[in-house]
Amino acid sequence: MHDSSSIESVLHEQRVFQPPSANTAGAPRWLIGSIDEYRAMHRRSIDDPEGFWGEIARAFHWSTPFSRVVDWNPPDARWFIGGRTNLCFNCVDRQVDSGHGDDPALIWEGEPIDGEPEIRRLSYRDLQAQTSRLANALRAMGVAKGDVVTIYMGMVPELAVAVLACARMGAAHSVIFGGFSAQAIVDRVIDADSRVIITCDGAWRRGQVVPLKDNVDAACDQLSKQGHAVSHVLVCRRIGGDVAWTTGRDHDLAQVANDASPDCPCEPMDSEDLAFLLYTSGSTGKPKGIRHTTGGYMVHTALTSRYVFNLIPDAGQVFWCTADVGWITGHSYIIYGILPSRVPTVMYEGAPNHPQPDRFWDIVARHRVTQFYTAPTAIRAFMKWGAEHPGRHDLSSLQVLGTVGEPINPEAWMWYHTHIGGQRCPIVDTWWQTETGGHMITPLPGATPTKPGSCTLPFFGIDAAILNERGQEQPRNTGGLLAIRRPWPSILRGVHGDRERFIQTYFSRFPGSDGKPPTVDSPSPFYFTGDGARQDQDGYFWIMGRVDDVINVSGHRLGTMEVESALVSHPAVVEAAVVGMPHEIKGTGVAAFCTLEPGHAPPDEPAAKALRAALREHVAREIGAIAKPDSIRFTDALPKTRSGKIMRRLLRSLAAGEEKITQDTTTLEDFSVLARLKESEEG
Ligand code: PRX
Repeated sequence: MHDSSSIESVLHEQRVFQPPSANTAGAPRWLIGSIDEYRAMHRRSIDDPEGFWGEIARAFHWSTPFSRVVDWNPPDARWFIGGRTNLCFNCVDRQVDSGHGDDPALIWEGEPIDGEPEIRRLSYRDLQAQTSRLANALRAMGVAKGDVVTIYMGMVPELAVAVLACARMGAAHSVIFGGFSAQAIVDRVIDADSRVIITCDGAWRRGQVVPLKDNVDAACDQLSKQGHAVSHVLVCRRIGGDVAWTTGRDHDLAQVANDASPDCPCEPMDSEDLAFLLYTSGSTGKPKGIRHTTGGYMVHTALTSRYVFNLIPDAGQVFWCTADVGWITGHSYIIYGILPSRVPTVMYEGAPNHPQPDRFWDIVARHRVTQFYTAPTAIRAFMKWGAEHPGRHDLSSLQVLGTVGEPINPEAWMWYHTHIGGQRCPIVDTWWQTETGGHMITPLPGATPTKPGSCTLPFFGIDAAILNERGQEQPRNTGGLLAIRRPWPSILRGVHGDRERFIQTYFSRFPGSDGKPPTVDSPSPFYFTGDGARQDQDGYFWIMGRVDDVINVSGHRLGTMEVESALVSHPAVVEAAVVGMPHEIKGTGVAAFCTLEPGHAPPDEPAAKALRAALREHVAREIGAIAKPDSIRFTDALPKTRSGKIMRRLLRSLAAGEEKITQDTTTLEDFSVLARLKESEEG
């Protein structure tokens, strides 16, 4: 673990971009129109959280009103206590009840394009009927309130329906990203004790078919060997053609839904009932099932959607978040935060460069998208493909641009501003995490002056600070640990099945309120984000990256331990160390150092190349393609301290191609290891 207090910021970005004024031609009405208005509201949200959040939350539908706003007993937060509500009701039924049933809720575009693209528009009424049918079908299969339904699908409308159907009937969902492997399904299904899986026969990705059902079948075989029976698999037919079928277990999704009644009232859920699990990487090999509950998640995601993207119903807006529903960004900003705001949400099935590198801009122009939300890694890819691609399309509908997932480099920010936003659209660089459920530090588009590379200022109710290890606030422009000093409505409620890991990871970094070191019984009241950051002279936050053994690849967190375990499970590898390395498109790439079993050392470069390819495939099988190492070096020993700890910081310097290792090597056990490693560069 490096000492983040000593992280030196290398960014010296000076540019400031003022938000467009209310009178700028073509600019929308800004819900928060000045920095003073933001500051006054933020102040109130911190001074009087009960008043602030109570008022906001009462605007939602509750079948039983809450009696208290918040209860904080670190590490346990409870919000909107005693209230009963339903996420699906607030996303869907409420719009139908208020006379907007026929308005477009979801606009979907498929990837294959053969002349005209395939487009499906679902109204709130369609969503109501389809979620009701699927909820009834799940009930008929024995799914009860509180059970966890696993969802492993491509980006099809049925995925949104599946997620909302679970919410409707009170089941929790665990969505697994369609790019993950069969092994990833096995681990998550067991951890969640899930018995029902909803999947697709396959998914389109860059013109190829991802065999989702085959992966589920492989996972189910593995699961039954481990004594875990999956009782039902529902299969959405997207690709067509044959897939293996296990009679009794497998069901055609469309058929079971069609056979079920379209009438299913929403289950009243306690505000603190589990809404979903979402697995994310941590610094150990085992992914964590992040627990989010109902009321707080609903309120926070909807409020951030409204203010950060400036969503206004009936104003002709169309919102598009390009994330996959398999990540938190898709949960919060394709579905749960956007639908209650009553602005149609776009869902696109496939790759940004299929059939051509202009596909996204084609979609923006076709649907007159007003808010566009994507990741810096995608922007860097667009830059590489060239400005002529967006240049060919009419992007004048755009009002607000957003980014998420990793720090955006100022060059990419400027490109986005110029070539996508026409120098007209504010950019909201939103900092948040799977654990936070919704945005935490972010500009508001009509209020906050932006600086390229900074996520700017905390959202309402967020008390963010840069602390040192003793829990003291760092002076301005000094790096430190990013912490949140009080709970917010969508804070994670735990790590599924692992209370100790929950406390250890998030509430043990800083001293307790009594100033004593935190313990499991007396945790710190400050939430630790795992990120290093600094605040500049204006109080703006600049995220410097992770301070734990987690790397952020293309905006997604990967635990280095996870990749190491995958490598070591290959027969040729004895020991592996994985670190991040700079990567032009992904931001951070995966660099692996492997010690090999005797007898497996490749005799020549072609053999080494073949082994590297085999290891990459192995990691893809074990975790998913996202974790494939970008560089693999073979070595006979890893640099270790005398106590046997791998010196990752040395490996990081090596992977970054630094000529001279300037780091302290006094604890290095065997100096020759370093020299040999430097020579082992991938050919
Ligand atoms: O390191 C931060 C980075 O992504 C981490 C959270 O990853 P994950 O849970 O996968 O969620 C990604 C989508 C919310 C953070 O700890 N991160 C996320 N957004 C930003 C960011 N780093 C800098 N700037 C951001 N806007």
